[in-house]
Amino acid sequence: MPKERSDVTQNAPDPRPTKTLLRALAGETLPVPPVWMMRQAGRYLPEYKATRAKAGDFLSLCYTPDLAAEVTLQPLRRYGFDAAILFADILLIGQALGAKLWFAEGEGPRMSTITDRSGVASLRPAQDVHEVLAPIYETLRILTRALPRETTLIGFAGAPWTVATYMTAGRGTRDQGPAHAFLQADREGFSLLIDRLTEATIEYLSAQIVAGADVVKIFDSWAGSLKGADFDDFALKPTATIIAALKARHPGIPVIAFPREAGERYVGFAAATGADCVALDNSVSADWAARHVQVDGCVQGNLAPSHLVTGGADLVSETKRIVKAFSGGPHIFNLGHGITPDADPENVHRMLGAIRG
Ligand code: CP3
Repeated sequence: MPKERSDVTQNAPDPRPTKTLLRALAGETLPVPPVWMMRQAGRYLPEYKATRAKAGDFLSLCYTPDLAAEVTLQPLRRYGFDAAILFADILLIGQALGAKLWFAEGEGPRMSTITDRSGVASLRPAQDVHEVLAPIYETLRILTRALPRETTLIGFAGAPWTVATYMTAGRGTRDQGPAHAFLQADREGFSLLIDRLTEATIEYLSAQIVAGADVVKIFDSWAGSLKGADFDDFALKPTATIIAALKARHPGIPVIAFPREAGERYVGFAAATGADCVALDNSVSADWAARHVQVDGCVQGNLAPSHLVTGGADLVSETKRIVKAFSGGPHIFNLGHGITPDADPENVHRMLGAIRG
């Protein structure tokens, strides 16, 4: 901003953000990459299990701001990560739009199903999601007060396609069959669902930014099952629409996009969507991604979560190999997918030792 510029003197403080993750997102190549982990608040931590037991069930944990903030902070206390990610779930937006959502103990999410246009028509307008989601914004406000100033606060949402796969099937699926079936039976009708989710996600992420998120991440966990024009229409375009709207409303807000298992479609994804960073899953090699994806800007990733279960020399050598592969450009160290409940918490310390030296 010009006003700030005229104020700069020789003794002015370093204008670069103190938050290393924001510096990487702005395109800076740092000597040590900032690091956090997908699902860093989770069942591999005994303190998470204790707080979750106190909450009763997973959704109560998500909707109780004090407890959600507490589990968000637990991995930071243990490991000193460079970022905290809001504790919530990508499926809450479906519930806010009027779908039923519950978590079957030991199995995973369950939802009421939407398989045609009449189902889409029964959903609430996108502007009405805030009443259900208000506790999530409160969690963020608590976190802005609790976090050290060098720690970046990440808000998030699911990408429309991935959320739609759960809303059509009523649960997680291996091949996202019901969403593909709806799409093939009535492409226009399915697009109405994607459009409603796109608008709702703009509302939701925008409110997260107002509540204090420094960055937002869009999780498209099932992007890999879309090919060709379907990838363009249902993964790339909705993400681009969300990012354009967020940047218009909140100039300068950085966005991380995670089109998981996009493979060769990772190439050019940041430029095509306006994302500041592309998160990489562990099916792509870091060397390949450095040459084909990092050339366009910041990347995040991509250690296989299984290394935090198996540990040993491979954990250290793989971590170092990834750091080295991405050392020529902006990089945020992360896993290629979420840490699993059977991971050994000690292995996270070993990973951090290999990154930070
Ligand atoms: O620490 C963090 O990363 C923040 C919180 C977070 C959760 N889910 C908590 C959670 C985030 C960012 C998510 C995203 C999410 N949720 C995704 C996208 C990322 C991915 O993993 O691909 C998806 C697909 C979901 C939907 C979802 N939530 C599923 C399929 C499941 C069941 C699988 C499982 O791991 O049990 C969940 C439950 C869930 N979300 C848990 C956590 C910590 C485990 C619930 C528990 O405590 O019992």
